[in-house]
Amino acid sequence: RNPVVAVCGATGAVGQEMLKILEQRDFPHSEIIPMASARSVGKKVAFKGRELKVVELTEDAFAGVDLALFSAGGSTSEKFSPLAAKAGCVVVDNSSAWRMDDNCPLVVPEVNPHDLDWHKGIIANPNCSTIQLMLALKPIHDEARIRRVVVSTYQAVSGTGHKAVEELENQVRRLMSGQPVVADVYPHQIAFNCLPQIDVFMDNGYTKEEMKMVNETIKIMGDPSIRVTATCVRVPVFYGHSESVNIETEEKLTADDVRALLAKAPGVTVVDFPEKKAYPMPIHAAGEDDTYVGRIREDETIPNGINMWVVSDNVRKGAALNTIQIAETLIERDLLRVPA
Ligand code: A2P
Repeated sequence: RNPVVAVCGATGAVGQEMLKILEQRDFPHSEIIPMASARSVGKKVAFKGRELKVVELTEDAFAGVDLALFSAGGSTSEKFSPLAAKAGCVVVDNSSAWRMDDNCPLVVPEVNPHDLDWHKGIIANPNCSTIQLMLALKPIHDEARIRRVVVSTYQAVSGTGHKAVEELENQVRRLMSGQPVVADVYPHQIAFNCLPQIDVFMDNGYTKEEMKMVNETIKIMGDPSIRVTATCVRVPVFYGHSESVNIETEEKLTADDVRALLAKAPGVTVVDFPEKKAYPMPIHAAGEDDTYVGRIREDETIPNGINMWVVSDNVRKGAALNTIQIAETLIERDLLRVPA
């Protein structure tokens, strides 16, 4: 029998994309159950030309559910994921709640599918910025061992959710008609601006988003020797995160070596034709599944250095698609059950 699948947070930016991708990929299911907060009960969501009624996410909602795809925020996931797992339902969670938990694998299917083998009921989907970085780094690490990564991000507002997309739209509209802007979701105006703060500040002066990239990279690559330092910036783009990535490797790789390695990497498309002004951009990556890499060149200030530019749809590969690919890999490996 095909699994009964719950989409928790089905009314949100990522939840909506999950429903779209489940449909597009013809994900095996016997039933899809959209769940959200009490506020959304009675709302309907579209799936395969039908309308599905949203039900409330409650403690008892998981009886008879085989797989729950969560994207309903950290605190919701903290509360309900263990209850779901207890009811025998495997959880793939898109929030940051379980990512660094030693009992939960943190998985990018093209990079560390083997970590699914030890799941105990809850599997974490990495941060959007980390996922696309992993796709670009893994083939390079396997070939030449990465020592250090310096990454700066240019992150779209959709990563913050529905309300942030509306906030950017409204601010642009107001500014173009000479009205004062209202900043609600972000601490400052995001329209025509860049905010060097994503998530809250930590004691070490970094933001939580920056430290997520550091810690998650080590967990996914399974190599604590890789040093990562990050600066995360929110930019007025609706869909698609971009990253400027500087890498230092143990073995020498030329720019051509890196292009060849990434050209055959799963989930990666190289777009690198400077003479034609062709490089990855968020307007092209939006709506696509792959992570795009371009501007590949040697860092001339160190012996073994590479610079590159990495772009991906943050709502798809950065969230909904990767979550669903994890679920597909669980099915492929016959792991869609909570171990006793
Ligand atoms: P709701 O629409 O009922 O508030 P986004 O990231 O786009 O803001 O979406 C967040 C998603 O998480 C929405 O589907 C939202 O449902 C859901 N959600 C937020 N808080 C809860 C909660 N306490 N219980 C269940 N679902 C929640």
